[in-house]
Amino acid sequence: MKALVLSGGTGTRLRPFTYSMAKQLLPVANKPVLRHCLEAVRGAGITEVGVVVGDHHDQIRDAFGDGSGDGVRITYIEQPWPAGLAHAVLLARDFLGDDDFMMYLGDNIVAGGLTAAASDFGAHRPEVKLLVSKVDDPSRYGIAEFDASGRVFGLAEKPAEPRGDFAIMGIYFFTPAIHEAIARIRPSARGELEITDAIGEVMLAGGVVTAEEHTGYWRDAGTVDDLLDCNRFVLSGMRGETLGERDRHSVLRGEVLVEPGAKIIRSEVHGPAIVGADSVVEDSQIGPGTAIGRGCLLSGVQVEGSVLLDGAAVRGACGIRDSLIGRHAEVIGGRGRSGTRLRIGDHAFVELAA
Ligand code: TTP
Repeated sequence: MKALVLSGGTGTRLRPFTYSMAKQLLPVANKPVLRHCLEAVRGAGITEVGVVVGDHHDQIRDAFGDGSGDGVRITYIEQPWPAGLAHAVLLARDFLGDDDFMMYLGDNIVAGGLTAAASDFGAHRPEVKLLVSKVDDPSRYGIAEFDASGRVFGLAEKPAEPRGDFAIMGIYFFTPAIHEAIARIRPSARGELEITDAIGEVMLAGGVVTAEEHTGYWRDAGTVDDLLDCNRFVLSGMRGETLGERDRHSVLRGEVLVEPGAKIIRSEVHGPAIVGADSVVEDSQIGPGTAIGRGCLLSGVQVEGSVLLDGAAVRGACGIRDSLIGRHAEVIGGRGRSGTRLRIGDHAFVELAA
């Protein structure tokens, strides 16, 4: 079985970060989201991977190369514009050949592994197998209705009045039957070739579509809040280790990973948290759920539940929470304020009022 990982798209909900970077390269626990995806794919025993890339394709190629660093073999497939998930499959036709494949949306974070789901698909080979997850707000998602045996009889995209609360996750298993179905569909009202329309075609042609509930953590890191949630979740499973330096005035509580070259000076870090390689944290309090990238400087800062990208600098700013701070962005001031939430793009400068 092959895998097709979708790493194009526009990422409008993650602007301004996606103006300068592919959303799949944003870090979760200091690792690009796409790396977490490739680990899940590799974990399911799949090594032949097509990666669909869009505007920021050069950045993705630079970060992942031929895939050997991640234990997979990558074939890049360029999608000139994001014309839909089924369009990405259409472009990947030569790469996929007549093989079964797992399609994985490159912004999904999933816990618990996909090995069992992949081998169940291989054993039964329904035309399509969907992974679904119970959600509180079904009108935000594609929803699948299925019977007790898992056979799907209804699909609805962001229904105003949902009949069920099982969202279709960003992980699908397909036999080559999907290609004929895609050939029969037309762009939707929003101008995209929709994979749900193609799956509907498979059902109309009498093909078997099944759904399996995934009960572990799942989220697509498509918004800042979701990305921060993924970050907190992944950090919560991490083991701490001090590979950098900590002076005797500093305290590390819980699981804290201090990467090589990082320095913790007169500070308190409450895990789970990561301080990235070559970063300096001085006179600061770092709270749980925080991932600090490489080469950052935090001085006189109080921050929690946040992600700082490589090279970010924050000085004299207290009460920062649930924030995403871009590469080489600078934040100063604001001492004494609490509950400050920031979304600051790459190279931006912000001075907070005291
Ligand atoms: P989406 O999150 O549906 O779309 P998007 O990434 O453009 O984001 P937004 O809605 O905020 O504008 O895409 C899911 C995944 O699939 C994501 O990793 C991008 C990828 N994708 C493609 O590779 N090609 C496409 O044509 C589309 C629509 C998405």
